[in-house]
Amino acid sequence: MNKTHTFHTVISLQDYLNSKGTDKKIGFVPTMGALHQGHITLVYEALNLADIVVVSIFVNPTQFNNSEDLVKYPRTLEADTMLLSQAGETVIFAPNVTDIYPEDYQELNLELGEIADVMEGRFRPGHFKGVVNVVNRLFEIVKPDFAFFGEKDFQQLAVIKFMVDKLNLNVKIIPCKIYREESGLASSSRNSRLSESELVDAEFIYKSLVLAKELSAKNEVAEVKSIIEESYNDSVLELEYFEIVDPLTLQPLTKWIDGAHACVVAYCGEVRLIDNMCLIETLHVSK
Ligand code: PAJ
Repeated sequence: MNKTHTFHTVISLQDYLNSKGTDKKIGFVPTMGALHQGHITLVYEALNLADIVVVSIFVNPTQFNNSEDLVKYPRTLEADTMLLSQAGETVIFAPNVTDIYPEDYQELNLELGEIADVMEGRFRPGHFKGVVNVVNRLFEIVKPDFAFFGEKDFQQLAVIKFMVDKLNLNVKIIPCKIYREESGLASSSRNSRLSESELVDAEFIYKSLVLAKELSAKNEVAEVKSIIEESYNDSVLELEYFEIVDPLTLQPLTKWIDGAHACVVAYCGEVRLIDNMCLIETLHVSK
């Protein structure tokens, strides 16, 4: 077991970090807790790159557009601490809502433009505004050199990169690969809300992405999109969206390009699951 240092207030965290000296590189992994191996792979990358690793655990109310989802979000600080102590020496920052959003909090109103209008932005209005506000606030508090984000939330990663660029923040964003269960299902805090049979049903999402990738070799973008959309009609999952997008702009594609990405959200029972996959790793353009 490694040591974890847990702080619940901004002042106590900053005092601790200041006491470590200014020459130390800080790696930061923002999370909403209910940690699983997916989060831990981010922590490992942070431990590799930085001298001090801060993991925040904060269920950010401003990014939930569905209040029931916020209430149901699992809160498991004790188990999270245990998992982190197995991973390595980390600093846990688990603040209260009033610490993150004090009365005099100045909301960040960054124009996110087209990358935030589609997919998650369309189905979860206000979600990314909440995400950029909390991440920017956490960056202000932690002052990291590196911050680690999972490709599982592909659009979120793009939005964070956009924010860092627009605000000219002095932090390097490190993207981390999607960690999957053996079944292919992307690990997620929400998976704990799935029954055993739903866990099997949810594997369909990964399978649909693999199928899309296979189909992309011989079909047009629109054909792949419609075949996959139709395949959900025969499954027990309810498809919210399946989009094939440009990996940088997140806008829907009409033609294949390098890095073309499939992004999907489907409901398994009441649980909203998100996943994505790169369909075109290298495009062989015929001469
Ligand atoms: P959360 O869903 O807890 O995820 C925290 C980080 O872990 C995100 O960067 C997410 O992409 C990454 N992650 C989750 N599951 C993963 C998996 N299976 N493989 C790889 N990475 C995975 O994303 C959030 O919290 C919040 O929006 C946050 C950024 C903390 C702001 O509140």
